[in-house]
Amino acid sequence: MTTHISLCFLFSYVTFLPLIFTTFAQSQNYIIHMNLSAMPKPLTNHHTWYQSTLSSALQNSQFTTTTNNLNSLISSKFIYTYTHVMNGFSANLSPKEHELLKTSPGYISSIPDLPVKLDTTYSPQFLGLNPNKGAWHDSNFGNDVIIGVIDTGVWPESDSFKDYGMTEVPSKWKGQCENSIHFNKSLCNKKLIGAKFFNRGLLAQNPNATLGLNSTRDTKGHGTHTSTTAAGSRVDKASFYGYANGTASGIASNSRVAMYKALWKNGASSSDVIAAIDAAISDGVDVLSLSLGLDDVPLYEEPVAIATFAAVEKGVVVATSAGNDGPVLKTLHNGTPWVITVAAGTTNRDFQGTLTLVNGNKIVGFSLYIGAFSSNNFPIVFMGLCDSVNDLKQVKSKIVVCEDKNGTSVYNQLYNLGVAQVFGAVLISNVTLTDILYKKFLASIIVNPINGEIIKDYIKSFNSKNSSSIASMSFKKTVFGTKQAPSVDSYSSRGPSKSCPYVLKPDITAPGTLILAAWPSNVLVSHLGTKEAFSSFNMISGTSMACPHVAGIAALLKGAHRDWSPAAIRSAIMTTSDIFDSTKEHIKDIDDNKDATPLALGAGHVNPNRALDPGLVYDVGVQDYVNLLCALNFTQQNITTITRSPFNDCSKPSLDLNYPSFIAFFNGGNSSKTLHEFHRTVTNVGEGKTIYTASITPIKGFSVSVIPNKLVFHEKNQKLSFKLRIEVERMAKLKEVAFGYLSWMDEKHVVRSPIVITTIKLKS
Ligand SMILES: *[C@@H]1O[C@H](CO)[C@@H](O)[C@H](O)[C@H]1NC(C)=O
Ligand SMILES: *[C@@H]1O[C@H](CO)[C@@H](O)[C@H](O)[C@H]1NC(C)=O
Ligand SMILES: *[C@@H]1O[C@H](CO)[C@@H](O)[C@H](O)[C@H]1NC(C)=O
Ligand SMILES: *[C@@H]1O[C@H](CO)[C@@H](O)[C@H](O)[C@H]1NC(C)=O
Ligand SMILES: *[C@@H]1O[C@H](CO)[C@@H](O)[C@H](O)[C@H]1NC(C)=O
Ligand SMILES: *[C@@H]1O[C@H](CO)[C@@H](O)[C@H](O)[C@H]1NC(C)=O
Ligand SMILES: *[C@@H]1O[C@H](CO)[C@@H](O)[C@H](O)[C@H]1NC(C)=O
Ligand SMILES: *[C@@H]1O[C@H](CO)[C@@H](O)[C@H](O)[C@H]1NC(C)=O
Ligand SMILES: *[C@@H]1O[C@H](CO)[C@@H](O)[C@H](O)[C@H]1NC(C)=O
Ligand SMILES: *[C@@H]1O[C@H](CO)[C@@H](O)[C@H](O)[C@H]1NC(C)=O
Ligand SMILES: *[C@@H]1O[C@H](CO)[C@@H](O)[C@H](O)[C@H]1NC(C)=O
Repeated sequence: MTTHISLCFLFSYVTFLPLIFTTFAQSQNYIIHMNLSAMPKPLTNHHTWYQSTLSSALQNSQFTTTTNNLNSLISSKFIYTYTHVMNGFSANLSPKEHELLKTSPGYISSIPDLPVKLDTTYSPQFLGLNPNKGAWHDSNFGNDVIIGVIDTGVWPESDSFKDYGMTEVPSKWKGQCENSIHFNKSLCNKKLIGAKFFNRGLLAQNPNATLGLNSTRDTKGHGTHTSTTAAGSRVDKASFYGYANGTASGIASNSRVAMYKALWKNGASSSDVIAAIDAAISDGVDVLSLSLGLDDVPLYEEPVAIATFAAVEKGVVVATSAGNDGPVLKTLHNGTPWVITVAAGTTNRDFQGTLTLVNGNKIVGFSLYIGAFSSNNFPIVFMGLCDSVNDLKQVKSKIVVCEDKNGTSVYNQLYNLGVAQVFGAVLISNVTLTDILYKKFLASIIVNPINGEIIKDYIKSFNSKNSSSIASMSFKKTVFGTKQAPSVDSYSSRGPSKSCPYVLKPDITAPGTLILAAWPSNVLVSHLGTKEAFSSFNMISGTSMACPHVAGIAALLKGAHRDWSPAAIRSAIMTTSDIFDSTKEHIKDIDDNKDATPLALGAGHVNPNRALDPGLVYDVGVQDYVNLLCALNFTQQNITTITRSPFNDCSKPSLDLNYPSFIAFFNGGNSSKTLHEFHRTVTNVGEGKTIYTASITPIKGFSVSVIPNKLVFHEKNQKLSFKLRIEVERMAKLKEVAFGYLSWMDEKHVVRSPIVITTIKLKS
């Protein structure tokens, strides 16, 4: 008895003390790549091999003697086995354990488990979708296509997940809904066909991480919103407190949704995200929607880039968000050559409030006020900069007018008005930033400086007569087509891609600003002081919202063209997009109101009906991506980390990927380099015999030519190649970003690609 206790004590003293020390001092998660061909013969199961590899490493790093303790140690350190996304596993290791693991037979490399960012800071008719013709019609609304969404979970009771009239779940589906807290798998149906959650990596990294709920149920709202944007069922009479009222519908309203929850209340780990992608691949999804990303990591250390390579290789189309760090250049994430990188734009919808002056003058401005409001003829006062809460409190029962002097004080003013709890407010400002509308509990209207002058004059005219001016306010009006749309919104992250600048990113713009979609009924949509608002629909903005639009469109294309590769689908989406807005001008960048460059816009604004019939596609195979990785001067080991293949053929390295867009880097000033040549091969996916001719928009300072400038196709699926040459005409000042377009045209199709010529420095 005594012996036993002392032994136990001795044992814990020797082994657990140093372990506890290292665990809390510096243990961290690693994603470990293994060489499957090196698996010892008697073993047939990779999971067993990975566990025994970890076991040997741990044994060597501790003085562990008993199997029992070793087993519990392994189960506390081993996180996931990966099957499809890579050959390897993840584990929580001390530096010493990590070093020992590196000496294990079959070890290739390891990457740290990095935190993942959710891309929210803050629709179909607009895209021209019509039940009677085009992409909705030809794909039967994406019938039987399965969209996997990696996000914060779902609210399964939402009307957008109703499966009325849907056919049986496709037999190829191998996934399932799992029971979890407040999520009975019986909540799944023919629309929501998969529900799984992943948090072991996050908890290994931070045992105290707040999960919200250890469940696939969404406690944030983001995942419910993104998944129903991609594939929500049609819901009549949807609205956000009266705004954006009408029928809400996901883009592919007959596609199925499988939710893989890997983003949690207080964080997200790559090891969980790639475990989710691993499960999605093995379950049989057709499209993946990833409204998340990692910043500033080389491709061979970027878990999402690595995992999506496997997905794309298996024919899964992957849509990702560009990020919300614009308008600065080089802020984009997911600049990965094999995914679709989506930027965010505005729609032609406006949400308005109206100020009615006693003289009958009606002044309209932006508003998203959600409260009740009934006011007739209230006193209205002009309070200038509205920078004193005390002054505002004196007039809190009036309609207060504030003026934004420099385009930024409006944020402060909204705050002050909220603290002073004024009855109503009018803000004179030229801001177009949509996050300003987030004060949904303040009865406020934002009016432009021209209307602001009218209001100020009105108030002044009463003051001079020494009587008090009065006005009325009303809210909740949705109008269409009042403004130039779409535009690239200023939060949308800009290229070039830091991880692979030679491929132009982003690829495409889709609606991302103030998008209405389903929301968990118990997650706040807005609050102010003690006021809280809930709703089964919410309107939010971000590239997170743009990404599922493209995932939905990819599902429609997949539904209509089962045989197209992910690269062909991406090419179709890019080359058929729009570059002109509602005023027939080039799409603008909200940030400077100038023409949006492809580094903000990508190839253009997505047009799903035209994407159905692109005419030509720029296809890319796995070896093309390998040729690119070779040309990036990655080591064989680095390439293996991405491709999972023990041998990568680097005999034809090339940065010139067969992509439907072009980016050429030139040095400013006196460079010896004056010529850049691209080689491309297009596949005729149109009817058969046809002749395409090339047309190029001129780019100042450069001579751009296509050789040959005519492509004669004799049959469907025929491939033809051409060269695009860019020559610097004179070495005078080159613009930082110049751009134009190459269009291949036959009688029916315009196949357009953006061309960017830039002096942006690649390093730093
Ligand atoms: C993987 O293991 C096989 C068999 O041991 C070996 O031939 C090959 O070189 C290894 N590859 C890498 C990348 O380590
Ligand atoms: C889930 O729902 C089914 C059917 O409503 C019920 O029979 C079952 O007990 C529920 N399971 C759990 C774990 O609540
Ligand atoms: C987790 O919380 C416990 C109790 O509050 C604390 O003792 C421990 O240090 C925390 N661990 C980490 C890794 O933050
Ligand atoms: C979460 O639930 C799973 C089973 O559904 C369980 O294995 C796991 O331990 C739970 N995690 C936490 C932190 O409660
Ligand atoms: C939205 O509501 C307004 C006012 O109630 C109504 O006039 C309009 O027709 C509605 N729009 C749609 C698309 O239902
Ligand atoms: C907005 O107004 C401020 C001051 O009135 C001005 O400095 C700024 O340039 C304007 N911004 C835009 C985008 O018009
Ligand atoms: C704009 O004015 C506010 C005060 O009204 C000030 O706090 C802010 O720094 C100013 N911003 C700029 C860019 O001048
Ligand atoms: C304006 O009216 C106030 C009281 O209503 C009075 O005290 C003040 O003298 C008047 N001023 C003028 C200029 O008539
Ligand atoms: C790769 O290395 C070659 C030879 O050193 C060099 O010429 C080339 O510029 C490098 N490529 C990249 C993308 O850095
Ligand atoms: C990339 O290659 C370098 C040089 O061989 C190596 O040190 C590093 O571990 C590799 N990383 C990965 C993730 O393959
Ligand atoms: C380019 O060359 C010209 C003449 O050789 C020289 O005057 C000029 O300063 C150079 N410009 C740069 C940016 O190096």
